[in-house]
Amino acid sequence: MIYGVYFSATTTTEKVVGAMMEGIGMECKSINVTHKEIEALKTGKDDLVIFAAPVYGGKMAPIAKERMANICGNNTPCIVVVVYGNRAFENALCDIAQFVAERGFVPVGAAAFVGEHSYSTANFPIAAGRPDQEDMATARAFGQEIRAKLNSDTLKNVDVATLKDWPVSDESLKNFREFIMRYQKQQSETPVKLVPVTDSELCIKCGECIALCPTGAIADDCVTVDNTKCIKCCACVKGCKMNARKLDSPFAPVLSQNFGERKPVIMKLL
Ligand SMILES: Cc1cc2nc3c(=O)[nH]c(=O)nc-3n(C[C@H](O)[C@H](O)[C@H](O)COP(=O)(O)O)c2cc1C
Repeated sequence: MIYGVYFSATTTTEKVVGAMMEGIGMECKSINVTHKEIEALKTGKDDLVIFAAPVYGGKMAPIAKERMANICGNNTPCIVVVVYGNRAFENALCDIAQFVAERGFVPVGAAAFVGEHSYSTANFPIAAGRPDQEDMATARAFGQEIRAKLNSDTLKNVDVATLKDWPVSDESLKNFREFIMRYQKQQSETPVKLVPVTDSELCIKCGECIALCPTGAIADDCVTVDNTKCIKCCACVKGCKMNARKLDSPFAPVLSQNFGERKPVIMKLL
């Protein structure tokens, strides 16, 4: 059986996995762990699992690890996929590869796709609209390649460390680093825990934000947020049909200004 196991708060990872499965063109079982942990699942070497997760802070999103912890391989081939917001995926592919290896999986393919950044807004767009048609076509083509390899029986272990971030100008990196230093200094002096807020003029209390929140951080009033549970994934912001929720991330301007250039998909299959 082919499985697609993914966490996706704002659906960009879900779209990429969907297109890959379409490209594979065989019966695939989708396991969405955004709202609940995976139920214990044992797989073997005749199965193939696509593991996909967003990049948070240059790593595989920690919540995706928690939700996927209960899956077990036995030399099971897998494809590891990370989706990042056009800044950098840094260690996320190595991280997800290690996570799956510890559970008995052998990565035979890897990819880093770009998805609209969780903090992207109309004023500060960051990879807005991605994965776009070109990305979706790339994901389908990657799926087709996987299918061809499965048929040819020549799958090999891929060294994900050979997949590197797309280069960024020194100036952008410098601007980002300087921003991070200022931000960390501010946070150490006056810590601020940012969470999405609700505009009560626009909110119709439909409860959609509560349903979309992967961690159950929003109270019944559609307003109060438990900041110990909120992971700032922005599922509630992007999913609110009334545009009543927003998160003014201090990261949005610096990301928009320095990581605006379209990055390509980076992938490898052995
Ligand atoms: C807490 C947090 C940290 C993030 N860190 C990064 C990062 O280090 N690099 C990056 O390019 N994008 C980063 N992003 C953006 C997400 O990786 C990106 O929006 C991704 O497409 C979200 O996937 P999803 O739509 O499946 O939830 C971050 C987003 C959040 C919420």
